[in-house]
Amino acid sequence: MSSFIGAIDQGTTSTRFLIFDEKGNLITWHQLEFEQHYPRPGWIEHDPQELLDVVTKCADEALRKFGMMGRDPNDIKAIGITNQRETALVWDRETGEPLYNAIVWGDTRTNNLVKRFKAKQIDVQSICGLPIHNYFSAVKWYWLMHKVKEVKEAVDNKHALFGTVDSWLIWNLTERVHVTDVTNASRTMLMNLKTREWDKKLMEFFEIPEHVLPKIVSSSEHYGDVKDGPLQGFPVMGCLGDQQAAFVGQRCFSVGEAKNTYGTGAFLLLNVGPEPVLSKNGLLTTVAYQLGNEKPVYALEGSISVAGGAVTWLKNNFGIIKHSHDVDTLASKVQDTGGVVFVTAFSGLFAPYWRDDARGTLVGLTQYTNKCHIARAALEAACYSTRAILDSMKEDGNVELKVLKADGGMSNSDICMQTQANILGISVERPAMRETTALGAALVAGYAAGIWKSVEEIRNLQVEDATIFKPKLDEKERNSLFYMWEEAIQRSMGWTD
Ligand code: G3P
Repeated sequence: MSSFIGAIDQGTTSTRFLIFDEKGNLITWHQLEFEQHYPRPGWIEHDPQELLDVVTKCADEALRKFGMMGRDPNDIKAIGITNQRETALVWDRETGEPLYNAIVWGDTRTNNLVKRFKAKQIDVQSICGLPIHNYFSAVKWYWLMHKVKEVKEAVDNKHALFGTVDSWLIWNLTERVHVTDVTNASRTMLMNLKTREWDKKLMEFFEIPEHVLPKIVSSSEHYGDVKDGPLQGFPVMGCLGDQQAAFVGQRCFSVGEAKNTYGTGAFLLLNVGPEPVLSKNGLLTTVAYQLGNEKPVYALEGSISVAGGAVTWLKNNFGIIKHSHDVDTLASKVQDTGGVVFVTAFSGLFAPYWRDDARGTLVGLTQYTNKCHIARAALEAACYSTRAILDSMKEDGNVELKVLKADGGMSNSDICMQTQANILGISVERPAMRETTALGAALVAGYAAGIWKSVEEIRNLQVEDATIFKPKLDEKERNSLFYMWEEAIQRSMGWTD
């Protein structure tokens, strides 16, 4: 009898429910987009109730398709969850009602707050692996406690529960189990990387009381059973932040292995082993995964705030493409960008620069420039940012990469992948099955359910051949292109709201 695993993949712009078999093959899935709320410039919110409704609808539809294939839903042994990270929620523990919309990871409303926290000069990064920045949950929660009356009252009355999207989903799916997996907790700026517990000094610094926070649990264990809806009765047994899930899905289990996921943003994670390694060159340290009681594995991360988001911008705001996949067709009409460089820093720059005052910048325009050059430059932006991240990793003294594993929506673009290989001077490997994020969540859930007994067994699962993009530029050409990028980066900085 076959076993299957379900995975909820709750991303920044869409949600999916996917079903995998015990060989890691994708059997069926359903995906729905949900609304992005932009109440003011720089603010990005999601409706927490809509996030839940969309999960239910996707699960319902995927299970229906699974049944139509002649499969039995009772053969689904466990559910895994993976989610957009850092996005901050607060709800009432009695009524279950959200007390505000979810403040999304890319939201920049806390910029001034961040300046005030930075001025206090405590070395937050040495404790939690992250620099003080609007990206992470703690400052978003601080804002909620000080700007939203209902949140303040609920915290004072001990009615409030805080959580990232994983906590919100697990609390609502199960009988109100308030937990967060260690990979999500490591993105809040409140977790001590070494003990993997909430850190007293950080909670005091950000004024967040411990009673609102979820319990930190491993990425692979039984958190509870789904209480109602289409998934009723299924055990929830795995949870990972989406970038860590792709890392597991790409099976980066050995020190020195790395993946880059080109989604709304792009996130490169390098396996550094069972002890955290701090970066001196703008990278984050994060927990990559922890399987039950086993030792955790840590990663160095280079986060890029806008990757595929630039393609969405070309479609929705600039109107030069109708569908996101048209970007590749447009970009392929020209051999290069014609000297155009597009720094897509719409809400500042993340790694390795960490500049809130950077903004989107198009340089090198001439009368020769047309929309094809701009489309190509938008695709290339994530490739240059990735090179800057790998340069930082080298400077930090970490293992030099031989191959970069790629996935995420923008990795479908051959132009993007070939440019990436050219700019890095190493091969880029794109798997045939690109749903690596959901696969990661399914793998950790299946591990807890006993479907796979060891990491080796997971590593040895057969996968279809990957496409390899080999570099086609010599070092001199690569470096001169990268020099233009660095010049454009300098010009993108120094803007204020
Ligand atoms: O840190 C933010 C990240 O988790 C968002 O990922 O794939 O939803 O853009 P994605």
